[in-house]
Amino acid sequence: MALDAEIRSTLTLPAVCAPMFLVSNPALVREACKAGLIGGLPRQNVRTIEKFEGWLAEIRADLDAHAAADPDARIGPLAVNLSAQLPDLEANLDLLDRYRVPIVISATGNPTELIRRAHDHGKLVYCDVTSVRFAEKAATAGADGLTCIGAGGGGHSGTVSHLALVPRIREIFDGTLIMAGAVGSGAAVRAAEVLGADLTYLGTRFIATQEAGAAPEYKQMLVDGTATGLRYTGAISGVPANWLVASMRSVGLDPDDLPVPRGAMRHDRLPDPVKPCKNLWSGGQGVELINDVPTVAEQGFPGYGATSWGGVLAPRNTPAAAVERLSREMAAILRTDDMRQRLAALGAEPVGSTPAEFLAHMQREQERYIALTSRLGIRGEG
Ligand SMILES: Cc1cc2nc3c(=O)[nH]c(=O)nc-3n(C[C@H](O)[C@H](O)[C@H](O)COP(=O)(O)O)c2cc1C
Repeated sequence: MALDAEIRSTLTLPAVCAPMFLVSNPALVREACKAGLIGGLPRQNVRTIEKFEGWLAEIRADLDAHAAADPDARIGPLAVNLSAQLPDLEANLDLLDRYRVPIVISATGNPTELIRRAHDHGKLVYCDVTSVRFAEKAATAGADGLTCIGAGGGGHSGTVSHLALVPRIREIFDGTLIMAGAVGSGAAVRAAEVLGADLTYLGTRFIATQEAGAAPEYKQMLVDGTATGLRYTGAISGVPANWLVASMRSVGLDPDDLPVPRGAMRHDRLPDPVKPCKNLWSGGQGVELINDVPTVAEQGFPGYGATSWGGVLAPRNTPAAAVERLSREMAAILRTDDMRQRLAALGAEPVGSTPAEFLAHMQREQERYIALTSRLGIRGEG
């Protein structure tokens, strides 16, 4: 298993709010990050690089303000879906540097060029794959992560069951593995880990949230929808994807008699003004589990976070120089691969803070639990 330890330490749940065309907006992405998830954003959701910078600046400012107000908050990193075909790819990568985006997502086409260019900027690159063959190709191209999109996913999904796809790809790839498609519950997140994944991808579940940039009718269709109300077809966008039959009917299309597209990623045979994602809507089989349109925070437990932690304390009068040296040496040991692996096997994450940082952490925890226990009237036993 390999999920970058620094990234894992920022997450409350091993999950990504998946990037979605016309759905992911600054509000959805920043709330996902503030909930301790990786926040995915497709670059193609804005036309100009100026607007893209505006979005990144807005999200970053909000996340930084949140971190300043609560230094212990877990704030997930940003991940941007980019295409190597962008004429100003370099300028886009520069923006990812400026606004501290560590992950690039490659969703379509050969990822080799995007991986090379993103690696030059020190980014991790996660590639979408729907089969073992694509996984092998992306791994050979140098992908740091593979997003295994199994059957029943929203958007351009695959046809292979996760039960086979994830463990099979785990056999050939020791980077970050992400399970995608119809994930919409904590149980599915846990199941992904059991199958061998490090992270999960949630798309459709996040469309039906207050923050998502989807039309209210789209959100309601997900609440009302069932997995049998989906049609897996390449006729809408030229690439096989799951689409809501109700949305086909609402724009006057017959799901059993769809126009045949002229090629991959082409939708020019659809009658005007019908456009994929604009008024023809996609969703995954996770619709079965959707029966509300909460805020992102309401989906979890807002403000909830109880982690156990440990540290080393020295006797009261230990000379400061000795404390400093012990701290330095222990932090160096915690950074070794061997130590990281041993701790990861125990489900623990190394921190290696300075004595002053550890003291501040203990004081914050003390204040928090004194306030909590006195509010709830909790008393020690014995
Ligand atoms: C409406 C919609 C738009 C999507 N657009 C993108 C996109 O622009 N870029 C991308 O990498 N993936 C896109 N996806 C795929 C998602 O990132 C993710 O793989 C998928 O939603 C996971 O399946 P789920 O919806 O069943 O959770 C889209 C998915 C949906 C439903």
